[in-house]
Amino acid sequence: MNLSGQVALVTGGAVRVGRAIALGLASAGAHLVIHYHRSADAAQETVSEARQRGVEAVALPANLANSKEALALARAAEDYFGRVDIIVHSASPFVRASLSETTPEIWCQVLGVLVDGFFILARELTPGMVARGEGGIVVILDRGTFDPWPDFLAHSVGKSALWALVRNLAVELAPHVRVNGIVPGPVLPPPDYPEEDQARIAQGTLLGRWGDPQDVVEAVLFLLRSDYITGEALFVDGGERWAHRRPLGSRQN
Ligand SMILES: NC(=O)c1ccc[n+]([C@@H]2O[C@H](COP(=O)([O-])OP(=O)(O)OC[C@H]3O[C@@H](n4cnc5c(N)ncnc54)[C@H](OP(=O)(O)O)[C@@H]3O)[C@@H](O)[C@H]2O)c1
Repeated sequence: MNLSGQVALVTGGAVRVGRAIALGLASAGAHLVIHYHRSADAAQETVSEARQRGVEAVALPANLANSKEALALARAAEDYFGRVDIIVHSASPFVRASLSETTPEIWCQVLGVLVDGFFILARELTPGMVARGEGGIVVILDRGTFDPWPDFLAHSVGKSALWALVRNLAVELAPHVRVNGIVPGPVLPPPDYPEEDQARIAQGTLLGRWGDPQDVVEAVLFLLRSDYITGEALFVDGGERWAHRRPLGSRQN
């Protein structure tokens, strides 16, 4: 896929990793729908930065856990550009809650954003991609997709369900629309994340360090451009998933 001139919708594209993905796509020549939920000002700034890269961009809001808002987002995006060729689903509430702490509201909100909102976007926007004969979808997963993550129950289950959706959509939408996932490791700590925790997490990777949002951007661009990859999950995690296999004496955590 040649990204120049394509229209990409990036969920959670106003801030942090989603913003880096949006601007990476803009630098590659893709026009942008920058979705946001609460970060309205940041979304406008990201729009301005995208336009400075010579593409057209618009910011559109939605609580993706609300099916009406997700549907309205898909329709507004198509109305604005006439089509959407690429979806990157990065939006993801990061709610720490064990089973007893996970209220039905938390459960619905987290799975609503991760799974239901993306399902609605894909259902609305992929018929156009199929009709035009080309489309690309990338979803941002994390280690909770594959391993139980204590205290992040809804998050972990939601990411797992999203990975299931990736594989199902890859099968259903082939050969026109390719659907893939990326599994970042630690690439951007939350604001005010304690330094000792950052160091501990760095040591939990084989490479012994944090990555950078740009590592995820490169993977997104690679998967969108790679015409023979679909239904795949690409780990961009510094070897985090294999760190437990290090010889005991070499482990620092
Ligand atoms: N940071 C890392 O090191 C890391 C590591 C592994 C995987 N990831 C994955 O990379 C992606 C981005 O990570 P991040 O750290 O940049 O995320 P983040 O800072 O926690 O940002 C969360 C994003 O989700 C959006 N969001 C939250 N609730 C929403 C709702 N109800 N409806 C719609 N959007 C909602 C937010 O939009 P608003 O700000 O507009 O409200 C924001 O864009 C996520 O999928 C995350 O799981 C990140």
